[in-house]
Amino acid sequence: MNLNEFKKKAAWAALNYISPGAIVGIGTGSTVFHFIEALSTIKHLISGVVSSSNASTILLKNKGISNILHLNSFHSLEVYIDSADEINNNMQMIKGGGGALTKEKIIAAVSKKFICIIDETKKVNILGSFPLPIEIIPIASSFIENEIIKLGGKPKIRKNVITEHGNIILDIHNLNISDPIAIEKKISLLPGVVTVGLFALRGADIILMGTKNSVKIIEK
Ligand code: 5RP
Repeated sequence: MNLNEFKKKAAWAALNYISPGAIVGIGTGSTVFHFIEALSTIKHLISGVVSSSNASTILLKNKGISNILHLNSFHSLEVYIDSADEINNNMQMIKGGGGALTKEKIIAAVSKKFICIIDETKKVNILGSFPLPIEIIPIASSFIENEIIKLGGKPKIRKNVITEHGNIILDIHNLNISDPIAIEKKISLLPGVVTVGLFALRGADIILMGTKNSVKIIEK
């Protein structure tokens, strides 16, 4: 099983969802890397992009996609293309493995359509085998770790990572996420939490899942 090939297939299939003149939201990660490559082949047709991380911005520029726009210039975006660490049957996701969850969540909220491009291993019945990332203000780490333990999770500070916003990331292991919306709300409310990497309130609209033989399209 060549997961990279599956990611690539899903990423290239996302080109079908880009209309001429669109401004495209761009996620972060190895699957999105393939999408940026694909998008570069039609760069003359789009109006611009909004990037979710410095890493993606560098890749976009390297591929000659230079019209990188500031999100505050728009009230809404037509489409956001990103991957996930896990996605369930209700299109709810865990994201943030790459540490870019805060901008990813903002762009997802602004976008009319979230297209999630994945290899087939990302599709799960219940979220939570992948540790749930949360971006937090450093001074709140001890407090938040304690609260997470009360919720039944096992928090671990991600080593040597400072986010683009100067914060740290806690990865929560062993958390019961059978009710993703409730957990998203509960953790979001803790003082010091910047972003929870649960995308349940605003999940994906379409999944493009690369498999051995095809790209499976799953719609809400
Ligand atoms: C980055 C993310 C990514 O979408 C997620 O980690 C999946 O990455 P990859 O495409 O490398 O498997 O949320 O913050």
